[in-house]
Amino acid sequence: MTDSQGGAATSPMELYEKLTAQGEEVRGLKTAKAEKAEVEAAVQMLLKLKVDYKQTTGQDYKAGCPPSENAAVTDNGTAAGGVGAGGDDTVDPWNVSTTNAKGVDYDKLIVRFGSSKIDKELVDRVEKVSGQKPHRFLRRGKFFSHRDMNQVLDAYEKQKSFYLYTGRGPSSEAMHVGHLIPFIFTKWLQDVFDIPLVIQLTDDEKYLWKDLSLEDCHRFAVENAKDIIACGFDVNKTFIFSDLEYMGASSDFYRNVVKVQKHVTFNQVKGIFGFTDSDCIGKISFPAIQAAPSFSNSFPQIFGGRKDIQCLIPCAIDQDPYFRMTRDVAPRIGYPKPALLHSTFFPALQGAQTKMSASDANSSIFLTDTPKQIKNKINKHAFSGGKDTVEEHRKHGGNADVDVSFMYLTFFLEDDEQLEKIRQDYTSGNLLTGELKKLLIETLQPIITQHQERRKQVTDETVKQFMTPRPLNFKI
Ligand code: TRP
Repeated sequence: MTDSQGGAATSPMELYEKLTAQGEEVRGLKTAKAEKAEVEAAVQMLLKLKVDYKQTTGQDYKAGCPPSENAAVTDNGTAAGGVGAGGDDTVDPWNVSTTNAKGVDYDKLIVRFGSSKIDKELVDRVEKVSGQKPHRFLRRGKFFSHRDMNQVLDAYEKQKSFYLYTGRGPSSEAMHVGHLIPFIFTKWLQDVFDIPLVIQLTDDEKYLWKDLSLEDCHRFAVENAKDIIACGFDVNKTFIFSDLEYMGASSDFYRNVVKVQKHVTFNQVKGIFGFTDSDCIGKISFPAIQAAPSFSNSFPQIFGGRKDIQCLIPCAIDQDPYFRMTRDVAPRIGYPKPALLHSTFFPALQGAQTKMSASDANSSIFLTDTPKQIKNKINKHAFSGGKDTVEEHRKHGGNADVDVSFMYLTFFLEDDEQLEKIRQDYTSGNLLTGELKKLLIETLQPIITQHQERRKQVTDETVKQFMTPRPLNFKI
């Protein structure tokens, strides 16, 4: 019942040398102006090696710095010394990594970002105000941090409504299960509070950041919209827009972009996002575009030109820098600050040191995967907190805290009691890794199949409906 963790078989030094050689290969190809596909393949390989390296050593690969002594690995591939660390977690809109097999230290992140913890009291309050059992993502701390959520609830109790804003950067056609997390939760919020929702598809952002054509980015936006619609959003309460389309069509939206641009300096975005003098100017001004949907008068067709309607943004915590900037600017241009609900990351199959990434096929379960692919990926790649042999596992039990299959169940298994029983059985050694994986496979397969069935029902006509600027059901 061991899980082959490919990386563990190779020594840190061997991996380091492989990585260095691959880095040189990529540079060589780029200098030689090799074909795009060839360069891309080499880059993919490089990224994969970096993930393996981190998996094996618990450290980030740094050119010129061979792995240190304490880069040893334990039996099952867990990085030694990783657990309990957290000071060196990297979390920004472009990178998420930690040396800790349990994942990013979210409590430290709350302190670092200056947000507030979603505690039991707030979860209870959501239950009281909405009159609904809190979503499992709230019960289990998947949405763990917030800004001003109490204010939103105060106002809602006084019949003052609000709207939801979330988004997605359409970098490829392929969406994975991790991408669904904010949308599943946003759909729940839309249902229980009965409020409008705007979804920004930043095709412009992906064009600026990636080596993609505008046409491809826009096509991905429309394809991704189908997966988003398949989450069950109400067409009468949801407006999905592509920046490339809506920015050009809406003078009101663009006015807010310009207002934000006037109130943020290059120095500020350098500080917040780490832009440098050699980043293109499109990147430098992009944060203003992600800020604009936080202001209700960017959508006059929905809010009748009102600028004072409170916005609530559910998003993964890595998007917070955009909204720290937005919240800083808002009062200076006469708008309310958007409130936020932050989620944790969805771990890669290989372990919670990184998030699931569509550019690494082995790290991801895609929304297009067949039941068989799901089964194989989980069995082959899901990092296990189990012991090496059945005997040892029965004797000592597994470690659910670093076990990716268990982590995925905490996202997708609805029944709290069943989940707790699984945790206990696994920890005591009653439940074997293969059995735990089977439980996850049986949980995920129907979820993905049902998603695929709903997506099939989404026609081009449906997409057009969602993406047409129009009034929504909204009681001011
Ligand atoms: N920048 C985000 C991404 O790359 C997309 C996005 C735009 C977004 N607006 C948002 C995400 C609001 C969450 C909330 O995925």
